[in-house]
Amino acid sequence: VTMIPSRAPLLEALEAYRARKVASFHVPGHKAGMSYSSAPEAAWLGTVGAYDATELPGLDDLHAPNGPIAQAQALASDCYGADQSYFLIGGSTVGNLAAIHAAAARGDMIIMQRNVHKSAIHALMLSGIGAVFVTPEKHSETQRLNGVSAASVEEALERYPEAKAVFLTNPNYYGMTMPLERIAQAAHVRGIPLIVDEAHGAHFGFHRRFPMSALQSGADVVIQSTHKMLSAMTMGAMLHVKGTRMDRGLLELYLRMLQSSSPSYPILASIDWARREVHTKGEALFGAALTAIDHMEQALADHPRFALYRTHDPLKPLLYDRTDALSGFTLLEALAEIGIYAEMADERFVVCACSSATTLADIDNLLQALDVIFNRFPDEKKEIRHNFSNTNLLQSPSLSKPVYVRSRTDLAASEVDVESAAGAYSAEMVIPYPPGIPLLYPGEPITEEAVDALLRLREEGARVQGVMDRTLRTIRVWREPF
Ligand SMILES: Cc1ncc(COP(=O)(O)O)c(C=O)c1O
Repeated sequence: VTMIPSRAPLLEALEAYRARKVASFHVPGHKAGMSYSSAPEAAWLGTVGAYDATELPGLDDLHAPNGPIAQAQALASDCYGADQSYFLIGGSTVGNLAAIHAAAARGDMIIMQRNVHKSAIHALMLSGIGAVFVTPEKHSETQRLNGVSAASVEEALERYPEAKAVFLTNPNYYGMTMPLERIAQAAHVRGIPLIVDEAHGAHFGFHRRFPMSALQSGADVVIQSTHKMLSAMTMGAMLHVKGTRMDRGLLELYLRMLQSSSPSYPILASIDWARREVHTKGEALFGAALTAIDHMEQALADHPRFALYRTHDPLKPLLYDRTDALSGFTLLEALAEIGIYAEMADERFVVCACSSATTLADIDNLLQALDVIFNRFPDEKKEIRHNFSNTNLLQSPSLSKPVYVRSRTDLAASEVDVESAAGAYSAEMVIPYPPGIPLLYPGEPITEEAVDALLRLREEGARVQGVMDRTLRTIRVWREPF
């Protein structure tokens, strides 16, 4: 089984368990889905419940694998070109947490791109590892923040030779990428690992139209949300390791500490399935979806209102109103009212996350919905007032000194009106969601620019995590740095 791509060892082991089972005297208490049989609206839970097993004979153990989970992970390594792969049941979130914890120790420092997902900042907060934040570049055509330049990482490494790792996010939420090879080389010259959060790029490298994957570019540790752009169930993710710059023993220790001792078998099996799909089909898996998205681009080429912008990832078309009448936020909501749900919006764009399962029928439904919206919303009203994006909120460059991100529960914070917060230090994480990139972390100085961004978020009624006052009228601050 071990190296036959068309096998899915864990999926097969679960099916064998289901066929063999006569009675359950083990957890979970729903007893292979029996609890769900009394109500029709729960019937689907019964279907999944039949496979919601635990560490039974023949089903291996995620935290000490030597059976079908070990085989499934080995196939994943083969598929991605890794030396070792780990299935995660807590999303890329847990992969980021574990990788950062394992890369350095309390008091150490790593180089980190500033516009990372909150899980990377949370890893700093939990571990006591400091970061030198590198300011990302703006993508010139869309003015959205993308990755960092190789030169800025090289400068950071030059200035902070004690850095223990480089942590980057590639691609960004819009499917924009940065060249990783030179950065990987720069890290390797110093003998430290490049860790890449490739949450949105689990499909990279499998089609000639997709960007190169982080592993192909020389990264040492790569974290992917297999549930985002491939077909694993929500929370299903992988962490891949190549080479010896990352201590695998430590990494496994942190994965054991941070993940549930009762991992979900349906999620694990769906990761095995997603791997089998790309492993066996490769380019062919994505052909029909790409043709469908290309069709949408052509169909909108002469449209008076709506258009598609394609970034580096052809599965992430950005939809926008050419007349600037409707913001991305309004367009996303108008689409949702018709039952067309998109991934994320900002002031201008609606991010459509497509995958191998996107069909021409989906695209036709989207095009028809755009016609309905076209007729309903005239273009006289200009909604887009400024070049604002909830993904661009970011403080000024901070390649100045290591920052130890901490939440000090022992230090009294005061609540102030957002309007008068400039000059103080944020006592909370301010995280517009999506995309989940913190505008402020605990201890970060609040600039006038940050206050402006907070006011705009308030005006937009944005969903914000991490703050006590979610209406953003007030913010909790510390008066002094620490
Ligand atoms: C760049 C990035 N990294 C990590 C994550 C976390 O991934 P997950 O939701 O799989 O935990 C996200 C989620 O949106 C993300 O956008």
